[in-house]
Amino acid sequence: MHLVGVSISTMPQLRTLVLCLSMTTALTACSGSSSGGGDGVTNAGDSNQPTTDPVNPDAPDVNPGDEPTAGPPVNPNPEPPAALAPLPNPATSESPGFDDEPSNINRPVTAITRYFLVENPARRIEPQPTLGITETDFATGMPPAVITAENGFDTSTNSAPYFDGLTNQEIDAGQVLNVLYKPVDDDGGLPGMFPNELPESATFTDNFDGTKTFSWMPLQGDIGITPFTVTAVDGDVPSYRAEQTILIKVNAPADPSTIPNFPPVVNEVREHTVRVGDPVLLELKGSDRNSTYPSVEVLTPPPGATVLPHYIFEEITVLRFIPETPGVINIDVLARDADDPNLTGTRTISVTAEPKEAFALPGERLRALAGERGFRLGFAAVQEFYYRPDGALYSDLAGLEFNIVSAENSMKWDYINPEPGTFRWADADNLIAFAKHYNHIVHGHPMIWHRQLPIWIREAPEASLEMHMREFIDRLAVRYGDDVAIWDVINEPIADEGGFRRSIWYNAMGEDYIDIAFRQARDSDPDGILLLNEYDIAWDTPKTETLFPLLDSLLLKSTPIDGVGFQLHIDANFDKFDEVEANFQKVADLGLDIYVTELDVAITAGVATEEDQATVYARILDICLNQPRCKALQIWGFTDQYSWRRDQNPLVFDSAYKPKPAYFALQERLAQ
Ligand code: G3I
Repeated sequence: MHLVGVSISTMPQLRTLVLCLSMTTALTACSGSSSGGGDGVTNAGDSNQPTTDPVNPDAPDVNPGDEPTAGPPVNPNPEPPAALAPLPNPATSESPGFDDEPSNINRPVTAITRYFLVENPARRIEPQPTLGITETDFATGMPPAVITAENGFDTSTNSAPYFDGLTNQEIDAGQVLNVLYKPVDDDGGLPGMFPNELPESATFTDNFDGTKTFSWMPLQGDIGITPFTVTAVDGDVPSYRAEQTILIKVNAPADPSTIPNFPPVVNEVREHTVRVGDPVLLELKGSDRNSTYPSVEVLTPPPGATVLPHYIFEEITVLRFIPETPGVINIDVLARDADDPNLTGTRTISVTAEPKEAFALPGERLRALAGERGFRLGFAAVQEFYYRPDGALYSDLAGLEFNIVSAENSMKWDYINPEPGTFRWADADNLIAFAKHYNHIVHGHPMIWHRQLPIWIREAPEASLEMHMREFIDRLAVRYGDDVAIWDVINEPIADEGGFRRSIWYNAMGEDYIDIAFRQARDSDPDGILLLNEYDIAWDTPKTETLFPLLDSLLLKSTPIDGVGFQLHIDANFDKFDEVEANFQKVADLGLDIYVTELDVAITAGVATEEDQATVYARILDICLNQPRCKALQIWGFTDQYSWRRDQNPLVFDSAYKPKPAYFALQERLAQ
């Protein structure tokens, strides 16, 4: 999205920025509006305007508020910015090509009908195998134990526990392996022990004589070498431990029929609440311990249902139907063994359909209230929501409630570019289609992070990483720059204990990777709002001791940074609001904008309540609204159904899309 004309009213209470925005296709006539719901863009008749609110049919059309104010920071000591060398040609890794382009979906396989969606090329991308354990490793024998102790513990005074008589193991698939674990401590006492990670269907049982037995029947999928680790705990000093790994070599038996054929199961599908009249989508899949793909049959399809094979994964069956009446819909599904058709498993999958009225929300939509302040209030969209049972409700509720959306996982490197030269654009393309339909602005997340990197990048030669980094930034920005207003250019560069996180990027380029990434982002998306995004910096932590000197150094280098993203993953008993206010102000004093980028407020049962959670949401919003430089507040999701912290119900709608006290607390604060 390009900001083509700006006039900023500096009166704090107005804090509005009147923009002329050029959407991808054409410049729209601009008429500024410094108050009211106008977003400063007169795009009457624009297909992006949301239709009347399907969740609240009688609600008026809504528009987001004015665009957030943006402006490059004032650089106190301008140094000539170091120009980046041009990107290499040919590129360091194969560039996106026409064969990566998504295509229209022309089959009834999505939950969305209000805007069109695309799908990636029908190409199966297997998770990259990480470098495994080799035959040589196995032949070398059992690896030495890894001894761990607290800092300063004198291991010379106390011999570490160990397992008597333990060795590597070798067995044919289909046979049962039993390994006795007899922990010994030469200083006397009986060590404790626990397995680090059991292979599927393996057991580690107590013999009630100080020993335990590891029991496992490896199958076809386990052929190869599997490490198995058990930790022995010193009887006197529990922090003094020995992690002992054995290597288990599983061979294919001469006669495969000696491997028992287990019945397949239909994979469980999480409970969902859906809305009557919406398409409901179920991706049904079976699994089989013998590592084959069972076929799936829908025994009791709802009326009018379609059942289609997935266009890439033949093991997935796509069921789509439209519930016409409220109630629980039970669907019996059967999985049939790939080798023996008489071997089957069944499961009943239930979906709860509620009438439209059940989702009507009282009061004004949060986006309308935010829009009156020229403020952005939004969420992060779960990956491929349109393939999920409640995708239609998800899209409509979020589309009409908020006015800014982040990609939770859709733009991460391991999804977008899993192998050199392979690109999966569809999910981010579809998120942008969602945003255009409901008139959201898009928050691109993340460009450069240390997590969710594809294997080919994690294992790339260090000398190649600068160009890989710059090319990925450029590819994201070139494809999405016109539709993404804000970028998390660098995500989580600071170590928990302070100092720079020792990511592959830091190891390859030192702290300069941050400046280089921002410069590349600016070169590739000249109008993007560029953020450094971090967690645990909104209150005083070892990270904030690194953050502010880092920001100073970036500003001194004229790094093109526009703001700081405060993730704010917190708990319902959070109380450091003064520090949040102070840290926001410290960033504002640097001439940088503030974005609350990933707010969620976890509830620990018995410790905090939904009312405590509501208070925290309202306090954070209040601090942001009172800080002129705070431009947006985004929640990391919006329904507990898809939260990464789902078991602590951290969001403002529950899993059945009902508003929680936190929703009303936000509504009330915005309405003040
Ligand atoms: O896409 C794969 C799927 O193909 C596979 O079948 C499935 C099971 O293994 O995994 C799927 O990938 C998961 C991905 O979310 C998409 O659902 C990863 O395993 C899972 O680790 C990943 O978790 C994400 C997490 O970042 C880790 O990167 C969370 O959804 C996401 O909410 C969370 O978000 C981060 C922000 O990006 C940065 N700030 C912190 C925040 C919380 O960790």
